[in-house]
Amino acid sequence: MQKVIIEGPVTLKGEVNISGSKNASLPIMISTALSKGSCLISNVPNLRDTRFLVSILQDLGCKVDFQKNIFAVHNSSIKKKSADYEYVRQMRASIVLLGPVIARYPKFKIALPGGCSIGTRGIDLHLEALKLMGVKISIRGGYVIAERKNKQLNAINHKFPKISVGATQNILMAATLANGKTVLKNCAIEPEVIDLINFLNSCGAKISIKNRIITILGVTELELQNHEVIPDRVEAGSYILAVMATKGKVILKDFEPTHLEFPLNIYQSMGLKIKKVSNRSYELSCRNLKTIKKINTREYPGYPTDLQAQIIATLLKTGIKSRVTENIFENRFIHIPELRRFGADLKLKDKTVEIQKVSELYGAEVMATDIRASFSLIIAAMMAKGTTTIDRIYHLDRGYEDFDLKLKKCGVNIKRKK
Ligand code: UD1
Repeated sequence: MQKVIIEGPVTLKGEVNISGSKNASLPIMISTALSKGSCLISNVPNLRDTRFLVSILQDLGCKVDFQKNIFAVHNSSIKKKSADYEYVRQMRASIVLLGPVIARYPKFKIALPGGCSIGTRGIDLHLEALKLMGVKISIRGGYVIAERKNKQLNAINHKFPKISVGATQNILMAATLANGKTVLKNCAIEPEVIDLINFLNSCGAKISIKNRIITILGVTELELQNHEVIPDRVEAGSYILAVMATKGKVILKDFEPTHLEFPLNIYQSMGLKIKKVSNRSYELSCRNLKTIKKINTREYPGYPTDLQAQIIATLLKTGIKSRVTENIFENRFIHIPELRRFGADLKLKDKTVEIQKVSELYGAEVMATDIRASFSLIIAAMMAKGTTTIDRIYHLDRGYEDFDLKLKKCGVNIKRKK
């Protein structure tokens, strides 16, 4: 398994080009299964997950390819009506295929995604809403077998019992081809959901959004259009926290600060300075990092769970009884034992971590555990004295395009090793 070796401490200085958003690309790529036709989706990051989704779609018979950050759809007809375990178990987001495919075809079978390292992550919200839309769901042999009872899916008036990004995307895609007006309440409104809606509307869908209510007027057909994916706000947030942790100065290119408003306010209160350099280019710097008392992860527009591990790492030498509470996933703290290997003083109780600053961190041998947690190890390695080896970096390759090259360009002594 590949590893990276980082020599610390280091101050991050230079320029980082922010890639297209992974979490926006995946559902947009999937949504092309709603329609025949062709289109080009640009600014798609070249990551393990996006490449993997291309293989899933190709395995289903879609004529698609992916080169130089462009996902090209030549014909998205699905020939094989089963997404196999071998694929789905490696990428949970593939469950979002179910809604659009069953909206277009009468039957589809998809492997149950199962749990993952950050929690049980059920799919009940997806399945319950599809049942209401007239889909017969049975679970057999580890597969969800979905059969549409009518010619079209039924439009529904539905309130999600819990806010879910994936369920919102899945059901809103299904509803674009449903029979009538669907109203979905308590929806996720992350920028990635909005990007999907913008893409679908450009293809002829009739979707509107007000607060957490999404209204979809079903249409019989969509016509695929070209689309440019929004910049990755989680990647940007991760590099910003690395700037803060190392008291660095970096120009972020292709950065959209409005997608990170809430966390940026927090980071500014901790000493981050932001200066607009040109359109979509911002200089981020931090001379004095200040502590913060409390951070709670929440659905957008709140503090993102995907930046929780990175803020904990950033606070390791500054936090004074700083408390970070995880409210989205029940088990998203597997980075805590890894961060302790650097000498961090972290107390974990229920869903809250308390960080008490230490005067020094020391390089260590650690293991990447999930995409975002892995970047927290990079931040800690850059703050620590000596050599850090991070094993299992395929997690980083799932979410951070060219992370080693981008860090190297900012002065980090980082090497990839087989
Ligand atoms: C997406 C993001 C992920 C991010 C997460 C929360 C993608 C590819 N992934 O994941 O990076 O961390 O949103 O912002 O976009 N839940 C249920 N039942 C369901 C569905 C979800 O109980 O049917 C629970 C989950 O276990 C979790 C919470 O709802 O506790 C939120 O999960 P959800 O928003 O669905 O996350 P994902 O869409 O999987």
